[in-house]
Amino acid sequence: MSTNKESWGTRVGLILAMAGNAVGLGNFLRFPVQAVQNGGGAFIIPYLISFLLMGIPLLWVEWSMGRFGGKFGDHSTPFILDNMTKKRLWKYFGIFGIFTNMGVMAYYTYIESWTLTYTIKSLKGDFLGMGIDDVGRFFDSYVDLGSGINLPGWGLLAFVVTLTLNIYILSRGLSGGIEKVAKIAMPLLIVFGAFLAVIAITLGDTGQCTDCNSHVGLNFLWQPQFDTLANPKVWLAAAGQIFFTLSVGMGTIHCYASYVKSKDDIALNAMSAGWMNGFVEIVLGASVVIPIAVGYLGLDWVKENAGFMMAFKTMPYLFDQFGSVMAILAGVAWFGLLFFAGITSSLAMGTPWMGFVEDEFDWSRNKAAFTLGLVILVLALPTILFFEKGVFDEYDYWTGTVSLVVFALAEVILFAWVFGMDKGWKEITGGADMKVPIVFKYIIKYVTPLFIAVIFITSLFKPLNGDLSDWTQAFSQLSSGEGWPWANDSIINQVFHLNTGIEWFNADGATDMFYVDMSRFLLILTFVGLGVMIKIASNRRKRLATNKVEA
Ligand code: ALA
Repeated sequence: MSTNKESWGTRVGLILAMAGNAVGLGNFLRFPVQAVQNGGGAFIIPYLISFLLMGIPLLWVEWSMGRFGGKFGDHSTPFILDNMTKKRLWKYFGIFGIFTNMGVMAYYTYIESWTLTYTIKSLKGDFLGMGIDDVGRFFDSYVDLGSGINLPGWGLLAFVVTLTLNIYILSRGLSGGIEKVAKIAMPLLIVFGAFLAVIAITLGDTGQCTDCNSHVGLNFLWQPQFDTLANPKVWLAAAGQIFFTLSVGMGTIHCYASYVKSKDDIALNAMSAGWMNGFVEIVLGASVVIPIAVGYLGLDWVKENAGFMMAFKTMPYLFDQFGSVMAILAGVAWFGLLFFAGITSSLAMGTPWMGFVEDEFDWSRNKAAFTLGLVILVLALPTILFFEKGVFDEYDYWTGTVSLVVFALAEVILFAWVFGMDKGWKEITGGADMKVPIVFKYIIKYVTPLFIAVIFITSLFKPLNGDLSDWTQAFSQLSSGEGWPWANDSIINQVFHLNTGIEWFNADGATDMFYVDMSRFLLILTFVGLGVMIKIASNRRKRLATNKVEA
């Protein structure tokens, strides 16, 4: 039995921490870019449907699994899953609930450290007067540690500071660390976000080009369009965003919810945190980067250049157009907001490991936090040192995208079909402070697993760009014996490098693929290592149980 006696201090603290877990860089950086790349308003409907049929059900499933596990003193997915069934193998699916967080935390904390650097630089006025190319060059040299310009590297230093801060807060515990941070960071984040949204909305026509108007950007994002509803690519992107933004399929929600008391509400709490995330994403997330960029650079420029790095390569230049004082205020608000959004999520990613080793090996909180710091440092170094080789994207692909879908599919099947939907429903509705619509009992049992299974299968076989026409063409190509035209980001192509073949070395030495595959190997090693730890923990549990009976 675990000696882990952590608990949440207050309900507000729990909801803010859980909302902080969800609200992250995904809301402000990933969402607007995904929306632009998938047709703006065309993205919104698949996004909302995915939220309803997959996001909300998974929130309830994960919160209730977590609280259920907490009753038995389990705070990480391997033994939460283990307690829900007699089949011993399920606990190994729980590896995902720790592994995913470690992989994501590694590259996520790195981005968080950029936001810290940019906040400080904005405050110092370092970006004032810089042209768009200067800002872009600054970013490129910042992340290119190999160039020698930046060695030993402010980037590396900022990362170590950010990681240390995370580890320190985690070592203070749930109510003494995470909850306190969430209570400060979340309200500030909303204030900063609202401030920037007001700037963007009131910006309007800047006269810099024919359609340089922030309202054009807002219309583009918010005006629903129905013509792409039949496009599988848009659905995949929308579902992927729901996973990432809500942090479902990760294991953090299980862990946070496992510290909720067994009779306390989870149904309303889950909705409060989930909808707060939705509000921040759709209202605030959509109102900053894109409208301001469209305001000064036009919609065509934004469509062509939208990317995750836009916030770092473009925003300081755009803020500079407001005049120096406002540029400093907006820069601090924007990068400060990103930092708060990031840290409340990365803290959550650290907790499954801590829960696991505290429960299973009786490690102290400090030891758990310290070892987490070491593992994250080792995992993050390749993404930092070989950022330009594609290692960062490799982590994001496997741990921030594929793993979430695989784990969510496994857990919803376990919950609805192995544990049983009647028992599951009792877990969701037990102690509920709201009436949970009964229709969700059926959605969780039939629709959600099917929805996720289709997402998974589609991602396995995605052809070319993944548009509907690509699928039709792919089937006709297959039937005429020409084989399947794999999309580069289809899972099968990623595993076997079908499109490019394997080339680790060429005349110039090691290729990017070499670095990417080595980092993949490191991720696999982490996964296997966690599996071994779970096996040891399981044996230890058996030994302790036998000793207890004998005594
Ligand atoms: N849910 C977190 C985010 O959106 C991971 O960034």
